[in-house]
Amino acid sequence: CGIVGILGKAGTNVSDALITSLKRLEYRGYDSAGIALLSQGAFYRHRASGKLENLETLQTKNPLPGHCGIAHTRWATHGIPNEANAHPHMTERVALVHNGIIENHEEFRPAFASSDIQFQSATDTEVVLHLIDQALISGLEPVEAVRTTLEKLKGAYAFAFLFREYPDLMIGVRYGPPLAVGYGQGEMYLGSDATALAPLTKRLSYLEDGDMAVLTPHSVKIFNLAGTLVQRPIREHSLAQHLADKGNFSHFMAKEIHEQPQVIRQTLENYLNADKSGLQHPPLPFNWQDISRITIVACGTAYYAGLVAKYWFESIARLPVEIDIASEFRYRTPPLIKGDLAIFISQSGETADTLAAQAYAKTQEQHCLAVVNVPESSLARAVDCVFMTHAGTEIGVASTKAFTTQLSVLAVLAIAAAQARQTISQNDYQHHCMALAQIPALMDEVLLCEHKCREIAYQLSKARDILYLGRGTSYAIAMEGALKLKEISYIHAEGYAAGELKHGPIALIDDTVPVIAIAPSDALFEKTASNIQEVAARKGRVILISDAEGHEKFPHPDFVRLTLPATSPLLSPILYALPVQMLAYHTAVIKGTDVDQPRNLAKSVTVE
Ligand code: G6P
Repeated sequence: CGIVGILGKAGTNVSDALITSLKRLEYRGYDSAGIALLSQGAFYRHRASGKLENLETLQTKNPLPGHCGIAHTRWATHGIPNEANAHPHMTERVALVHNGIIENHEEFRPAFASSDIQFQSATDTEVVLHLIDQALISGLEPVEAVRTTLEKLKGAYAFAFLFREYPDLMIGVRYGPPLAVGYGQGEMYLGSDATALAPLTKRLSYLEDGDMAVLTPHSVKIFNLAGTLVQRPIREHSLAQHLADKGNFSHFMAKEIHEQPQVIRQTLENYLNADKSGLQHPPLPFNWQDISRITIVACGTAYYAGLVAKYWFESIARLPVEIDIASEFRYRTPPLIKGDLAIFISQSGETADTLAAQAYAKTQEQHCLAVVNVPESSLARAVDCVFMTHAGTEIGVASTKAFTTQLSVLAVLAIAAAQARQTISQNDYQHHCMALAQIPALMDEVLLCEHKCREIAYQLSKARDILYLGRGTSYAIAMEGALKLKEISYIHAEGYAAGELKHGPIALIDDTVPVIAIAPSDALFEKTASNIQEVAARKGRVILISDAEGHEKFPHPDFVRLTLPATSPLLSPILYALPVQMLAYHTAVIKGTDVDQPRNLAKSVTVE
């Protein structure tokens, strides 16, 4: 979920500004939204289920007054995404918005059941609302009412509060999910991230866990968990004030797929030297020779980028890599050797599980390195060393350009490690760098096969189940292809290691199941080809994605074929990501789904 609050100048109306900021937080959830404003001693509220445009329609039809207000865009946890469960929640005295989960909310319900308080929603948040309301009724001032309530809560939260009797006061608290305070001229703001506040101000401070910010139009006081007044540094961000648009494309996802040659070029400019035969990168707070093992942690698509990187680090830098999804890693509490390297990969830098995994790695005294796309993000601020993916804003929920820029940056890291550890020759080092430099031009070529992808997508759109196969780094691309397809077309798909098929999944194969084989003509090609034969022998409908050499070696008459340019075997996953993105995109378009904002998902999941 995303939250924003504006404490504006008397006589102004902040409702439009609130909605503008909410639009910039839609990546954190888009299943319902709401705003509450305070004007002349009364609260006014609009809430709507569904996309933000539904809230905007309400606001256009019936504009709300108010010089201060709070707003929320939701990704449902407790309670379905309907209007009653949408935030803000409010009583006569207090209104609030919440990002996070209150784990012990059930504890308080019996006491409320015997009172005459009627709960209006199925959310965990509403319990907090009534606890604060009761504290206010008992005579506590807002700051004390919030503090005594928070002491009782277990879980994770960022809250913003308004109080009907205190028109010049807004309170924000953070324990887990991020919250920033924005500084204006006679106005103050709260927001989940710098992006939300970018149209309002360039100056902000990030709250730390346990902080409470008490805002008036002219002052900000921040108290830590112990109640001590503290200073949090004011930072200036350089984020754009305007959101990207779709240009001539029908969807952001299509635009972002086509931007890949350009953003990879842009990213590599930061990491390759002028003649493209060597690397340059930010200073590292460790020596590659001193690292005994790398731990890679991420979620979703970023995890698959990490899986490719595991093969790279192990094969060329001879460094063992452990990789896990963040939600497992954080509770597995694995022992890590002090002084080793942990790499966290995240487009947004706001994924709650990835942030918690990084906090754990820190307790294990790891060097923490982030591969991240948003410079001001929580992850970028938490680690020792940041390797930016310069993908630009990614709006489509299904990650495309962020994935391939992550791969490019991870390739840089693996090549740098191999060179420093002298596990590759100087010749190979130069060869890998130059091969990397050629990727953008090869991507331009790959994009030319889009019409063929669209043809294949017609077949895919009729399937109920689809399998993706690959070996080595292509195994990770198979899994990414399956994830992409299911998240936007809602067709069931799985990615398997080609050699594992015979141990179970082959039972699914019949002539209704398309099997997409990712098989560049590399050292594993013959092995994958044998597995594809096993599929063909069981009447599976094979779609072979390979280069000219691979297709030539495997002249089966019934295969549907997609031909990619030849590339260095090491870097093939960066190229092979594109056809699986295009297949998923066109299948979704044919099925008529909401490609950029698929059902039930959020671009960045900010709860665990
Ligand atoms: C969500 C998105 C995925 C994304 C994952 C990790 O689940 O739907 O597409 O890969 O979060 O996001 P991050 O911002 O950490 O890369």
